[in-house]
Amino acid sequence: MPVEIENVSYVYAKGTPYEAKALNRICLKIEDGTFTGVMGHTGCGKSTLIQLIAGLLEPSEGRIFLDGKDINLRGYDRKELRKKVGVIFQYPEYQLFETTVERDVMFGAKRLGLSRAETEERVRWALEKVGFDYERMRRLSPLGLSGGERKRIAMAGVLAVKPEILIMDEPIAGLDPLGREALLKLTDELNAEGTTIIMVSHDADVLAEHAGRVIVMENGEIAMDGAAKEILSSVKKLEEKRLGISQAAETAKLLRERGIDIGQDITRYDELVFRLVSYLKGGAQK
Ligand SMILES: Nc1ncnc2c1ncn2[C@@H]1O[C@H](COP(=O)(O)OP(=O)(O)OP(=O)(O)O)[C@@H](O)[C@H]1O
Ligand SMILES: [Mg+2]
Repeated sequence: MPVEIENVSYVYAKGTPYEAKALNRICLKIEDGTFTGVMGHTGCGKSTLIQLIAGLLEPSEGRIFLDGKDINLRGYDRKELRKKVGVIFQYPEYQLFETTVERDVMFGAKRLGLSRAETEERVRWALEKVGFDYERMRRLSPLGLSGGERKRIAMAGVLAVKPEILIMDEPIAGLDPLGREALLKLTDELNAEGTTIIMVSHDADVLAEHAGRVIVMENGEIAMDGAAKEILSSVKKLEEKRLGISQAAETAKLLRERGIDIGQDITRYDELVFRLVSYLKGGAQK
């Protein structure tokens, strides 16, 4: 079920003194089962783009297709969209509003028309997927949980719907290292099982390790788009845009500046170590 974005622009508060053009003629196709990272400075339009794909905002211009169907046409089945596209918002902890964790996680799944038993099973599965014990958590109030825990509860609510496309807006911001590791592992698992992932993150390391494709946004437009490796190894270009580069790319660059060239295309830790070892071994033989 590919997502196709055709010449999409979005203007906030159109026709008022606060009018702000957030997206300008975006064209994008996202294939099934892929893992796409989206990066760019604050205010460049990442969250706006996500809300458009999820059908929460309507384009000011252009069209968005899901599985070949225009999601903003009258007569399009919005239920279909909610079933297929799951979004974990930038601040999901503020979106929990039910009295118990179980009710919160069930909120989306309940609207799918499943049996009660199946819905409960999904809630249990989703809570366990995000690392919680179902029996221990289900009756707690979300309000009494920490920010990181609330984020995981919000994630469970989206997982319980089993969306084909999972969109995550800065999902790891505010998580501790363990929570971050667990979330990324889970995302990779879902992706391996066929879920399409779209992840907004300013963390070049995370995108280097997990994404197959990276899109860089700038002032409401797509400034760069390509294989993660190609984009994240364009160190000069990223630095010109004042965007962070991965630690591995940075290390390779610093080594290069000291006359040790182990390759310009390094973006991930495993590559860095491999190339460095090869270089040092080669060097030792000389
Ligand atoms: N509700 C709104 N009303 C008016 N302008 C808005 C609104 N939401 C966003 N904007 C503007 O639209 C532009 C894009 O915002 P958006 O939230 O999509 O950026 P972002 O890339 O997600 O930023 P961040 O990295 O800070 O999350 C910004 O200039 C922002 O000020
Ligand atoms: Mg945002």
